[in-house]
Amino acid sequence: MTQPARQLKLGAFLMATGHHVAAWRHPYVPADAGLDFAAYKQLAQIAESALFDALFVADSIAAPTGAIASRMARSDHFEPLTLLSALSAVTQHIGLIATASTSYNDPYHVARKYASLDHLSGGRAGWNLVTSDNAAEAQNFGRDQHIGHAERYSRAREFHQVVTGLWDSWQDDAFVRDKASGQYYDPAKLHVLNHRGEHFRVQGPLNVARPPQGYPVIVQAGSSPIGRELAAQTAEVVFTAQSSLASAQAFYADLKGRLAQYGRSPESLKIMPGVFVVVGQSESEARDKFESFQALVEPEVGVALLGRMLGNFDLSHYPLDGPLPELPLTESGQQSRQKLLTDLAGKDNLTLAELGRKIAGGRGHYSLIGTPSQIADELQAWFEEGAADGFNVLVPHLPGGLQDFAEGVVPELQRRGLFRTEYEGRTLRENLGLARPNNQFQPQ
Ligand SMILES: Cc1cc2nc3c(=O)[nH]c(=O)nc-3n(C[C@H](O)[C@H](O)[C@H](O)COP(=O)(O)O)c2cc1C
Repeated sequence: MTQPARQLKLGAFLMATGHHVAAWRHPYVPADAGLDFAAYKQLAQIAESALFDALFVADSIAAPTGAIASRMARSDHFEPLTLLSALSAVTQHIGLIATASTSYNDPYHVARKYASLDHLSGGRAGWNLVTSDNAAEAQNFGRDQHIGHAERYSRAREFHQVVTGLWDSWQDDAFVRDKASGQYYDPAKLHVLNHRGEHFRVQGPLNVARPPQGYPVIVQAGSSPIGRELAAQTAEVVFTAQSSLASAQAFYADLKGRLAQYGRSPESLKIMPGVFVVVGQSESEARDKFESFQALVEPEVGVALLGRMLGNFDLSHYPLDGPLPELPLTESGQQSRQKLLTDLAGKDNLTLAELGRKIAGGRGHYSLIGTPSQIADELQAWFEEGAADGFNVLVPHLPGGLQDFAEGVVPELQRRGLFRTEYEGRTLRENLGLARPNNQFQPQ
């Protein structure tokens, strides 16, 4: 039998009004879309019609406040699992990847909610496992300080172990529900976790049957060395910010190279860098479109976004036209993004305001501004030259940017044989080409 050609995977990274920090002010964009279910329903349906693998929703469990925050559309948005549960009822094929933090949650809650979403959606749930990059979350959960970087990852590792253990509470066929005999479940197919670890004590079992996918797909987005190690051990999809083909290739080789020590094949983990995409009929139209968003960026807003992405630093006391100050390694934020942004500033000698403006759209993710065929050329190069198995697509504004991608770039990728023309399977796992995990407590 001939092997089907390898094709790329696509995630639609949704964010309220769009990824551009000034999108909410743009005439194309409904400013209240962050809490408008009809708007999200439309996005989900655009993405599903275009055969995207999944919707991807990020999260932060604290609302930015203050003079600058009051000028950004980042302080009100839906809780991801609630949103995706609602979207599961108005979609049929597309995967539903919600972010949940291992630092400010308990594993039982997380296992239960994702198992529920997997059942509700017929096997389309994914968990973006993050350790929280927003220091302000700590104060919403009884702490003065955010948990330190290494400690967060230690907790995350055990958290994952407990959640997957809870998903294996029941064998797939444990619930016999036999009316004639009166047997609802088979006790021999129940496995009580009884976990006692450094961070958690969890008895189990979970009060939800094993998820249709076995486990919802495990996604991860940490890219520091310790984050990569956790991903190599546990993740099936990795979302990462990379600023060039060369850095993406190095990341790809490094992460895939870490899999063998865990007995995993390179295909068992899909690497999907973020790409910020602005599509136009011509290159100049795409550039004009991008500039129409850039013109709305207030320097202070760009710099506030930059400070947050560098790892929760307040840069408001530094001159806008001065260089990026020397900053300590972030303990609370993303160390990988801090390095990426610091390198970007150094490469072109950018001032603080210039760097803030540069990342106002894609926050450091690789930017593609052009025609569908120019964009497809770059995606193809990354896909074929060892930098990506697919992409998480960020667009400046919603819904228009997603529509542009769906109508322009997706058909171009399909013409090149690089993207599906129909969904291959029923579950997110099947569409991503990932194996269904066995129950760890069940003899094979
Ligand atoms: C592309 C990308 C997206 C991320 N999205 C989120 C998010 O939505 N919420 C969150 O709390 N952390 C998010 N993170 C943070 C990480 O998942 C991670 O747990 C933590 O910040 C440490 O990152 P590091 O390993 O790169 O230092 C993201 C990280 C990356 C690289």
